[in-house]
Amino acid sequence: MATDAHVRQIVGEVLDPVLGKSLNQLKMVHSISVDQDPLRVTIQLPTPAYPARDALRAAVEKAVSERATEASRVEVEFTSEVKGKNSGGNVGLKVKNVIAVGSGKGGVGKSTVAASLAYGLQHFGAKVGLLDADVYGPSIPHLVGASGQPSIKQVQTPDGRTFERIEPIVAHGLKVMSMGFMVGADQAVVWRGPMLHKALTQFMQQTEWGELDYLIVDMPPGTGDVALTLSQMVSLAGAVVVCTPQQVALLDAGKAITMFNTVKIPVLGMVENMSGEVFGRGGAKAKAEAMQVPFLGEIPSDPIIRIRGDDGQIGKLFSEENTVRQSLLDISSNVAMAIAKGILENPAMPTLEIL
Ligand SMILES: Nc1ncnc2c1ncn2[C@@H]1O[C@H](COP(=O)(O)OP(=O)(O)O)[C@@H](O)[C@H]1O
Ligand SMILES: [Mg+2]
Repeated sequence: MATDAHVRQIVGEVLDPVLGKSLNQLKMVHSISVDQDPLRVTIQLPTPAYPARDALRAAVEKAVSERATEASRVEVEFTSEVKGKNSGGNVGLKVKNVIAVGSGKGGVGKSTVAASLAYGLQHFGAKVGLLDADVYGPSIPHLVGASGQPSIKQVQTPDGRTFERIEPIVAHGLKVMSMGFMVGADQAVVWRGPMLHKALTQFMQQTEWGELDYLIVDMPPGTGDVALTLSQMVSLAGAVVVCTPQQVALLDAGKAITMFNTVKIPVLGMVENMSGEVFGRGGAKAKAEAMQVPFLGEIPSDPIIRIRGDDGQIGKLFSEENTVRQSLLDISSNVAMAIAKGILENPAMPTLEIL
C-alpha cells in the first residue's frame, strides 16, 4: 500500500499548469488520504476562480499512477481558500483583496467591466462587493439594477464612542455601495476635493462589507485623486486597466498605467473591451506587451452587454447562455490568478489570513 508521505511527496512535485511552480512551493497540497480506495488527494486552490481544474487533476492522477505504482486508483478533490493581501486590515475591514478598475477615459466600458468582474468572481463562488468610486457620475446602481437608500445605523464601541455603519444595497447577491444611492438620479454632485475624499473614505470604511474575498472598485476616469486616496487608505491587491482597441484610447490607457504606478498601486493587467469590427482588435494586447503588464483578456463589442446594462441585469450575463459569458469568466479568472500569483511568488509581503 502507498503511504501518505510517499503520495504527498509525489503530488507536491507536480507542477501547477497555470502558475508553473510545484504544488509544494505553492502550498496547494491540502490533504492526502490513503486509507481508502480510491485514495484521495485534496488540492487547495488559491481562488475558486482557478481556471484549470481538469488539467491539474490529470497531472496529479498521472504522477500518482506513474510513480506510486503500489497505489490503486486516485481521486482528486478541490477546495479553495482565497489568498489575499489583507487589503482592508489597516482600516478594520475583513476584505482580502481590493481591486481597482480604472481607465484613462470615460466611455470605454469601465463600469461595465467592474460590475462584470464582480459578478464573475461571485459566479465562481467568491464573496464579493462592488464599490462605485465614481462619485460625480455613479453608474453602478443603474448597471446592477439596484436602488433604494442604504440604512445607516449607529454603533457603539466598547469604550463608549459611537460611529455610523452603512448597510450596502444587495443586488443579485452582490453587496453594492455608490453615491448614486445617496443622491437622486438627475441630481448633480458639486463637491470640492476634500469632500470627495471624505465620501470615499466613508463608503470604503463604514460600509458593512462583512468578510469579502474581493472588493471591486469602479474608479472615476482620469486624474489620480481617487487612486491616491484609495492607496493611502487600503493596501490594494492591484488595478485592472480597461481600454478599447483604438489608438487614442490606448494612449489614455498608458497614462492610467503610469498613474497607478505613481500612486504605488500594482497593475494586474489590461483588458480590451469592445473588440470587433468597429474599433478593431488586438491593440490592447500589443500595448500591454509594450508596457510590460499582463494582458487579461478581451471582451467583444456585443449588443447583449449594452442591453443587460441598460436593464440593470449585468449579473444575468453569467446565468444565461450568451456570446460574452465565457470571455467575462476568463477575465475574472485571470484577475484572480494574477493576484494569487503575485502573493504566491512574493510570500514575504502579504498576510494571508484575515485577522
Ligand atoms: N463590450 C461591450 N459591447 C457593447 N457595449 C458595451 C460594451 N462594454 C460597454 N458597453 C456599453 O458602453 C456604454 C459605456 O459603458 P460604461 O461601462 O458606462 O463605460 P465607462 O464606465 O467607461 O464610462 C454603456 O452603454 C455600455 O452598455
Ligand atoms: Mg463609468
